[in-house]
Amino acid sequence: MHEVTLRMKDIQKSFSGIKALKNINFELRKGEVHALLGENGAGKSTLIKILSGIYQADGGSIEIDGKTISIHNPLDAIKQGIAVIHQELILADNMSIAENIFMGRERCNKFGFIDFKAAEREVQERLDLLGIDLKAATVISKLSTPQKQVVEIVKALTYHAKIVIMDEPTASLSNKEIEMLFSIIEQLKEQHISIIYISHRMEEIFHISDRVTVIRDGEYVDTLKTKDTDADELVRLMVGRQISDYYSHTKRKLDQVVLEAEGICTPDKLKDVTIKLHKGEILGLSGLVGAGRTELARAIFGIDRIESGVIKINGRPAAIQSPGDAIKNGIVLIPESRKEEGLILGNTVGFNITITVLEEFIKFIHVKQAREQEIIHTFFSKLSIKASSPRQAVGLLSGGNQQKAVVAKWLATRPDIIIMDEPTRGIDVGAKAEIYALMDELAKQGTSIIMISSELPEVLGMSDRIYVMNNGRIATCLDGAEATQENIMSYAAGVKND
Ligand SMILES: Nc1ncnc2c1ncn2[C@@H]1O[C@H](COP(=O)(O)OP(=O)(O)OP(=O)(O)O)[C@@H](O)[C@H]1O
Ligand SMILES: [Mg+2]
Repeated sequence: MHEVTLRMKDIQKSFSGIKALKNINFELRKGEVHALLGENGAGKSTLIKILSGIYQADGGSIEIDGKTISIHNPLDAIKQGIAVIHQELILADNMSIAENIFMGRERCNKFGFIDFKAAEREVQERLDLLGIDLKAATVISKLSTPQKQVVEIVKALTYHAKIVIMDEPTASLSNKEIEMLFSIIEQLKEQHISIIYISHRMEEIFHISDRVTVIRDGEYVDTLKTKDTDADELVRLMVGRQISDYYSHTKRKLDQVVLEAEGICTPDKLKDVTIKLHKGEILGLSGLVGAGRTELARAIFGIDRIESGVIKINGRPAAIQSPGDAIKNGIVLIPESRKEEGLILGNTVGFNITITVLEEFIKFIHVKQAREQEIIHTFFSKLSIKASSPRQAVGLLSGGNQQKAVVAKWLATRPDIIIMDEPTRGIDVGAKAEIYALMDELAKQGTSIIMISSELPEVLGMSDRIYVMNNGRIATCLDGAEATQENIMSYAAGVKND
């Protein structure tokens, strides 16, 4: 018999009359990793928010260790042993790891003073136990994102969490960091802690989870043992159909060079980077996290200052000193971090999609309304953005649908050159295929695309040629039969070098 830690039954939730969750059933066993899978907007985060006390369910029940409980606020959830590792980490930057972990419940020594030393000792012990090379006294601002996640996990442990929820925890992690997270998860399992794991990456689900529950459009579909299923079955359950043509790639002829970066150096990262981009080409940019791919994108787009080197557009040197200059030269950048750079969360989806084309509207002021509606409409259907209406605030969309809105916003400018930084991060498999098809269509029409991606199958499936970066340099350019996972990895890791 398996011991059940958590049972959610018939959970329902509506937002202004629209049903986000219809009848979700979810059972979590002691010490298991249970993946929650579903398309963008299926209701995964909403279910988690109900469990963690951020939202209140409209109906249904929650049992913990066989007892029906009610969770009215985040504190109730913590008291029940439920901890969430949030994707947007909420730690105080100028305080230490230990201070962050014990914030709001500072321990006092026998003289009534806050006992920082005791807090630090406990945190250090836990870090050591997990095999994490961090000091409890280190200030948060010095930590990387994965290290901050570790702090959140240690925090959960000090609260004696029985259930740890991870909502897309690996979205911004490198492979090595993902391995570290997985080894921590294994240790949590050994301590009989149960984990709810949300991710759009199939390989992770197969690697780490014991069971998978699939939800679709706010409805419970099925719960399966991970080892008894495969990616095809899960995708079918998720999207309700088979996806056959996953990558769209029309063979293209590359002749006209539209963009050249020659000998680009930046103060912090790039060393003598030279690349060529052809008209109608999809160019993959591969490499490990920190190799300089995002920096190259930022340099071309005029965000970061170039120390030496030139950028040529259609053979002529272009003075790109700001994103405004880049946009005038027909270049757009779809950034990696949608929250920080991509969207104005408080504004409507429609506004966010059309904000980059506002200048164009002003020129044709008399058709403004109609044109705005047309753009919104086109991209809503092309990328099947799931929102109750274009008037819904973007911040209320599911994570993946926010990402689609960022993509839509920049495509609306009809650029000649698009740089996409991790375009499909956080996007479900069905919607990925839609974005790939759109990229292929744009390339056919002559748009050139630079795609930065950490997912090798995606780079291989979509690119005409692939530049691999290592340590701020271009390590090689691969195409045809040379473009293999092994080759990319060897150049990315610096094992091979041209
Ligand atoms: N506060 C809110 N107000 C209105 N609608 C909301 C709110 N929160 C979520 N929704 C809607 O509920 C639905 C489910 O969203 P949810 O964030 O749970 O999806 P998800 O499965 O986590 O998707 P993703 O994979 O994209 O993160 C979406 O249609 C979303 O727009
Ligand atoms: Mg979500």
